[in-house]
Amino acid sequence: MIVTYVPFESDLSGKVAVVTGANSGMGKQTACELARMGARVVLACRSTERGEAARREIAAATGSQEVSVMEVDLASLASVRSFAGSFGDRTQQLDVLVNNAAASLGTREVTPRDSSATGP
Ligand SMILES: NC(=O)c1ccc[n+]([C@@H]2O[C@H](COP(=O)([O-])OP(=O)(O)OC[C@H]3O[C@@H](n4cnc5c(N)ncnc54)[C@H](OP(=O)(O)O)[C@@H]3O)[C@@H](O)[C@H]2O)c1
Repeated sequence: MIVTYVPFESDLSGKVAVVTGANSGMGKQTACELARMGARVVLACRSTERGEAARREIAAATGSQEVSVMEVDLASLASVRSFAGSFGDRTQQLDVLVNNAAASLGTREVTPRDSSATGP
């Protein structure tokens, strides 16, 4: 669901934004607003399928064709490095970084290899 409200007026044309965890919740809404303001927005998601669904929803809501999806699992530093490499191959420009993805875990979780997760 995309929430509609009086938009914040700002022109972000020509700006590049990355939003992590952009396929749901506050990340998706934030990405949507950045796209509405004209930014080129990368949805950094751990599931390309869920990211693509959000991209379609945001494109329909904003009319923006400048929203794309890149895969990254922030619980894996190898995945983060791979994302950074791919992003750097695409562009050297990054104007807005919204580090949104995370979860408040109810239990301790051990993630693979060189990764990190926090719990209470
Ligand atoms: N909502 C609140 O009341 C509240 C209050 C305080 C703080 N926060 C923080 O605000 C942020 C967003 O909250 P929200 O309620 O919008 O959360 P949400 O709806 O659960 O969305 C979290 C997003 O982060 C993604 N994500 C989780 N782990 C990831 C990982 N390892 N790699 C990549 N993506 C990952 C999820 O992807 P998947 O769909 O793949 O799971 C999802 O897209 C979170 O950091 C949350 O802890 C929220």
